[in-house]
Amino acid sequence: MATSLGLLLVLTAILAIIYIVQAQDQDQRGFISLDCGLSSNESPYKDSNGLWFYSDEKFTQGGKTGRVRENPKRFAEQYNTLRYFPDGIRNCYNLNVEKGRSYLIRATFVYGNYDGLGMKPVFDLHLGPNLWATIDLQKEENGTGKDMLHIATSNSTQICLVKTGETKPLISSLELRPMGNGTYITKSGSLKRYFRYYLSESSSQIRYASDIYDRVWDPFFLKEWTQLSTATNVDNSNRYRPPEIALKSAATPTNSSAPLTIRWTSENPDENYYYYAHFSETEDLQANETREFNVTWNGIQYYGPFVPSRGNLNTISRTAPVTCNGGICRFELIRTDRSTRPPLLNALEVYTVIQFPQSETDENDVGAIKSITATYALSRINWRGDPCVPRQFRWDGLNCSNTDMSMPPRITTLNLSSSGLTGTIADAVQNLTQLETFVEGNPRLCLSDSCKKPHKKKIIVPIVASVASAAIVIAVLVLLFVLKKGKPAILQGLHLLPRTSSMNATFAEKNRRRFTYSEVIKMTNNFQRILGKGGFGMVYHGSVNGSEQVAVKVLSQSSTQGYKEFKAEVDLLLRVHHANLVSLVGYCYEGDHLALIYEFLPNGDLKKHLSGKGGRSIINWSTRLQMALEAASGLEYLHIGCTPPMVHRDVKTANILLDANLKAKLADFGLSRSFQGGGESQDTAVAGTLGYLDPEYNHSGRLGEKSDVYSFGIVLLEMITNQPVINQTSDNSHITQWVGFKLNAGDIAEIMDPNLHKDYDLNSAWRALELAMSCANPSSSKRPSMSQVIHEIKECLVCAKSGTGKNLEMEPQEVMSSDASMVPMAR
Ligand SMILES: *[C@@H]1O[C@H](CO)[C@@H](O)[C@H](O)[C@H]1NC(C)=O
Ligand SMILES: *[C@@H]1O[C@H](CO)[C@@H](O)[C@H](O)[C@H]1NC(C)=O
Ligand SMILES: *[C@@H]1O[C@H](CO)[C@@H](O)[C@H](O)[C@H]1NC(C)=O
Ligand SMILES: *[C@@H]1O[C@H](CO)[C@@H](O)[C@H](O)[C@H]1NC(C)=O
Ligand SMILES: *[C@@H]1O[C@H](CO)[C@@H](O)[C@H](O)[C@H]1NC(C)=O
Ligand SMILES: *[C@@H]1O[C@H](CO)[C@@H](O)[C@H](O)[C@H]1NC(C)=O
Ligand SMILES: *[C@@H]1O[C@H](CO)[C@@H](O)[C@H](O)[C@H]1NC(C)=O
Ligand SMILES: *[C@@H]1O[C@H](CO)[C@@H](O)[C@H](O)[C@H]1NC(C)=O
Ligand SMILES: *[C@@H]1O[C@H](CO)[C@@H](O)[C@H](O)[C@H]1NC(C)=O
Repeated sequence: MATSLGLLLVLTAILAIIYIVQAQDQDQRGFISLDCGLSSNESPYKDSNGLWFYSDEKFTQGGKTGRVRENPKRFAEQYNTLRYFPDGIRNCYNLNVEKGRSYLIRATFVYGNYDGLGMKPVFDLHLGPNLWATIDLQKEENGTGKDMLHIATSNSTQICLVKTGETKPLISSLELRPMGNGTYITKSGSLKRYFRYYLSESSSQIRYASDIYDRVWDPFFLKEWTQLSTATNVDNSNRYRPPEIALKSAATPTNSSAPLTIRWTSENPDENYYYYAHFSETEDLQANETREFNVTWNGIQYYGPFVPSRGNLNTISRTAPVTCNGGICRFELIRTDRSTRPPLLNALEVYTVIQFPQSETDENDVGAIKSITATYALSRINWRGDPCVPRQFRWDGLNCSNTDMSMPPRITTLNLSSSGLTGTIADAVQNLTQLETFVEGNPRLCLSDSCKKPHKKKIIVPIVASVASAAIVIAVLVLLFVLKKGKPAILQGLHLLPRTSSMNATFAEKNRRRFTYSEVIKMTNNFQRILGKGGFGMVYHGSVNGSEQVAVKVLSQSSTQGYKEFKAEVDLLLRVHHANLVSLVGYCYEGDHLALIYEFLPNGDLKKHLSGKGGRSIINWSTRLQMALEAASGLEYLHIGCTPPMVHRDVKTANILLDANLKAKLADFGLSRSFQGGGESQDTAVAGTLGYLDPEYNHSGRLGEKSDVYSFGIVLLEMITNQPVINQTSDNSHITQWVGFKLNAGDIAEIMDPNLHKDYDLNSAWRALELAMSCANPSSSKRPSMSQVIHEIKECLVCAKSGTGKNLEMEPQEVMSSDASMVPMAR
């Protein structure tokens, strides 16, 4: 009995020694798994995934250990202890890695009221000298995790916690996993996990040992999908090695002719994404059957046709990043015509690119300075992390050359005087090959040939010179701007020739002509009925030949130039006709009396319809899309149906009129160019209406076709949301900001016009919103053309008409909660 107890003790001791030996190193896979705050006296332990976790003590200096008091989600063991850093601004972990290899780096943070103060910290996480993420445990009250795929740029890497306020940074665990050779290669930057899903109705995550690289795979499934699964083995041996069990299940659309779509919103519309889609056929298909589909991202086809293979793995990814125009991302698999089966997807990884622009300090300099620190046993609180960068954290007593972020900084000055150094010079100082000065304290430490006085650069003169020249540049710009504004409007660009003319001429076309002023008085019954006030004057109701109704716009003389120009322009407008453009019937020019006579549209303008003013009924979703299509067709005609092309310059809901059958027609085109003044247009001095005006106009001073596309995007947003274009009482005052803000919450029901009472096809609503946001892209080059817009609205209409209506089950926010979902779920 006594001997066996003794044996047990010996065995335990031996095991403990083995653990400690292992603790000094990585495990056989090169995994580093640190349970932060675990004392080095405590034994390492194996977690429920079968990975050994070690104390973090050897990997960092300073910091104190804490133990959580509250563990609301009963997290795994590594979240019970933590290390917090009350001292110093920046504290770092140093980890040995292999230069050029790709690593999965994962850090988790759980506060758990370890200090009993209930003060959840907010701080920054850095990778070397670069910001990786902000950790806000006030928002992520249950803890959060960050993971990233990063190619090591040197043989050691530093993960730093940086104080940004009063609260003390903390960390619960830190893990490093070397990845397969040649995987997750980017053009530039590293990859932040956006989500990593395997498509299954299961509720459990997949990790090590199912995934030999210990990536965390979350289950994800949508209501409109059907689960497929297979018991047959899958060969998962490509470079990425997704777990075999993830490949044994797949999702396929329940509606076998529908695409398989995953959609989410992007907080930053310029974000760059990489995706890795993993496919394996789960079914035994008959010889006469195929499953074939195309792989698209935001409507752009990147791969296909593709046939997944049975029992094998295919990974489809891009070597260049993709973006989500308009802030809505859509990964879609579309069945080809010859396919007899709907598309299938097993797993999908999506990452965003994070740039680390600042180079780390020269590797040899870092080695040398560390060696100096060790020789003199210096331990200054701010001598943590990269010695030179970022500049605000540069070590005391050092100066570095770092003018260019992409060049590794070099140490140029070392001032050890305050450290009270005595004795001989450390050999390693010789390895600081760029050292210019090595200062004070002990002049004998000066290195003979590299000891120079610091250069005093004459920097004042160039600064003065550049300030002066900047002032001149600004003055010239201001002058140009003033001159431009003062320039009289010219008629250029209005010499257009309609390309086609419709065969059966309507009343409006047959009667196009010049009217006398007395005829105008007669047709309006002496200006009896006011229809409204337009951009250039009052509009009256009238009738010609006692039956045909017209709208008469009376212009003030001051709003136009001379008769010749007026007539030339009007003649051109008289020749433009399209079913979705309000026809000009004629005009009047007699002395001071100017008027334009248009066909009358009894249903008024779209703006009034949307606002519900005058007891108008609510326009349903398909009708809105139909109206959008019609207005877009009118605009496209102006852009490409006329030669030379014509820009409307004032597209807005108030300029979209509705006929008796609610057919939409664009009004007021071709006028803003040569007619000055009047109404809302005055806000912007030249053309356009505030809120609808292309933001690029501010820089270019020029309105082109893409400016109309922008305005059309705003119109579409109004039709979708029924929100004011500019809301003075809100922080998100412009409609695009409002939509962007709401998109972050990810719930489209919050965005759609409440008057629609959720009666719309969800897919078509998303597509319309996507389209509107891409039209309203601040950068004109990223906006679609009107022809593309028309194509997309047609697709939306098809969805809207075929859709099941109140399909509100898909919750895109599930897709977005990527970081929070990283902390392992309750066990
Ligand atoms: C934290 O966990 C609690 C309990 O599970 C939950 O009610 C709460 O919503 C969670 N908070 C966040 C931000 O996820
Ligand atoms: C980094 O490590 C590799 C392998 O361990 C070695 O070949 C290389 O020389 C090291 N590089 C530096 C700069 O220390
Ligand atoms: C990765 O590639 C290097 C050479 O590029 C090779 O030496 C190494 O064995 C490879 N490792 C694996 C796991 O394939
Ligand atoms: C299935 O999807 C197709 C294409 O999206 C659509 O035309 C059809 O109406 C859908 N069927 C049902 C029942 O939703
Ligand atoms: C394929 O052939 C089987 C009989 O061998 C038949 O039952 C099935 O309908 C065929 N499928 C298609 C899509 O033609
Ligand atoms: C799939 O891609 C092929 C090749 O690019 C193309 O010809 C085909 O029209 C596409 N099919 C669908 C349904 O998008
Ligand atoms: C550090 O060096 C730069 C030039 O490399 C110089 O402009 C700057 O004044 C120096 N700073 C200190 C604190 O010596
Ligand atoms: C070196 O450090 C000491 C103490 O911090 C300071 O007084 C001295 O001015 C520094 N010398 C230079 C050249 O920066
Ligand atoms: C100086 O650098 C050389 C070559 O990089 C290295 O072999 C030597 O160990 C370094 N000296 C010290 C004291 O770090």
